[in-house]
Amino acid sequence: MDVLINVFVALHIIGIAALLGGFLTQMKAMGEGTARLGPAMLHGALTMLVTGVVLVGLNQADDQAVNNIKIGVKLAILVVILGLVYVKRDEERVDKAVFGAVGGLTMANIFIATLWT
Ligand code: HEM
Repeated sequence: MDVLINVFVALHIIGIAALLGGFLTQMKAMGEGTARLGPAMLHGALTMLVTGVVLVGLNQADDQAVNNIKIGVKLAILVVILGLVYVKRDEERVDKAVFGAVGGLTMANIFIATLWT
């Protein structure tokens, strides 16, 4: 079971790479107002949702404690990210504030995941 959980943590991290990578590589474009919420960011956010839910299930099946409040907060933040990325996915230029919010909320979730023990 441990191996399976670790495989999903790895997939969870690949999801972060797609979502956060899309943000970090376009910070200059964000400043110019030309950044896009491309497919990699949408697929990264979806990957976070699917692997996160699977991780909760696997940890519970393995009798490992899951911090429901922490997961609830992470889920709520991801729902906002996913909503923004989904709605704006076809826009050629995304407003600086929206693009910045997606990056900021993604980083917030990383700190919540790692600091909230
Ligand atoms: C942008 C969204 C997200 C980010 C950046 C993120 C980030 C992370 C990171 C860095 C880890 C590894 C560190 C650790 O094990 O504590 C992790 C683990 C985990 N994540 Fe996420 N996550 C996100 C969304 C979610 C969602 C939506 C769920 C559940 C519905 C979830 C559930 C979990 C679980 C169960 C673990 C296993 C370790 C634990 O927290 O006990 N994550 N996440």
